[in-house]
Formats: sequence, structure tokens, C-alpha cells
Amino acid sequence: MDVIYQLKQDHLHLYSMLHLLEEHLNRGELSLTLVKETLDYIGDYAERYHHPLEDQLMSHLASHNPSMGKLYRQLHEDHQALENQSDELRRILEGIERSDTLTSTELLARLHFWITAQQKHLEYEDRYLLPLAESDLKLFPAEFDWPLPTNLHLIKHYQSIAHDLARPSGMAL
Ligand SMILES: [Fe+2]
Ligand SMILES: [Fe+2]
Repeated sequence: MDVIYQLKQDHLHLYSMLHLLEEHLNRGELSLTLVKETLDYIGDYAERYHHPLEDQLMSHLASHNPSMGKLYRQLHEDHQALENQSDELRRILEGIERSDTLTSTELLARLHFWITAQQKHLEYEDRYLLPLAESDLKLFPAEFDWPLPTNLHLIKHYQSIAHDLARPSGMAL
């Protein structure tokens, strides 16, 4: 498996999901079900499979190129911070379901903040970290197992959420 190629493909996938959610919100819609499904999807895909694969790659490179070790290891902390933000959003959504008071303006602001953080992370990796990792990987080659052997379920799930997000019929908060 070409790990760099696979990670870049994942990024395209994640970008497109974030973009669909952003467009859904920008149309003035706020379907809590769809927001939750998108968060769950990102949780299933990015947090369970994509981040661990990146962490594995960076840990390999850090052990072979100590001068870059700090930068490579930092990614794990970045992932942790992103996952904490996702968990916080999940708690907020659960709170809304239990009828905690939160205005749709506050929720929207938090969602936009979360989307931007996710997008910035992807951009940082695509523009800066993955090119560095790619050249270091040529010097210190290694094989990585794609940790998602059968991702059909996730792909189908993605297609179904993408379809619903693209359709202007969400319910308002
Ligand atoms: Fe990442
Ligand atoms: Fe990534």
C-alpha cells in the first residue's frame, strides 16, 4: 500500500464531507440528525482509522529521523486535540437532545469552529507534513497495513450522509 497516497485519498474524502456540512449550514439549515451523523462518520473514519495510520507513520519516521522527531510526534497531540473537540461537540448535541439551552447561533458558531479546525489540519498535512513524510519515507521505507480492510460499510454510510447533506431539506433547530 502506498501510505501517502492512501492518506491523501482519505483527505479528499474528509474535505468533501466537511464541505457538504458547511454548505448545509450555509443554506441556513441545521439538521441535528445530519450533523450528528457527520460527526459520527468523522469519528468512525478519521478518528478510528485515519489518525492511527498517520500516527503509526509519523512514529516510524520520528524514530529514524530524530531531527524531525518533535514535528512528527506533535501530530499525535494535534489528533488528540481534534478528537477532544469532536467529543465536546457530541456532548453539546446530546445536551440539546436532553433540552439543555443552547441557541442555534451558539451551536452554529461551534460547528463552524470545528469544521475550520478540521480543514486546517488537513491543509497542514497536505501542504507541509505529508510532503516531508513522503521524502523521509523514501529514505526510511516501511510497509503499513491499511487498518480498514473492508470499508464498504463506511463508504455506503458516507454516500448516504453525503446524499442527505446535499439535499436542501434539513430540519431547522
Ligand atoms: Fe491528521
Ligand atoms: Fe490526515
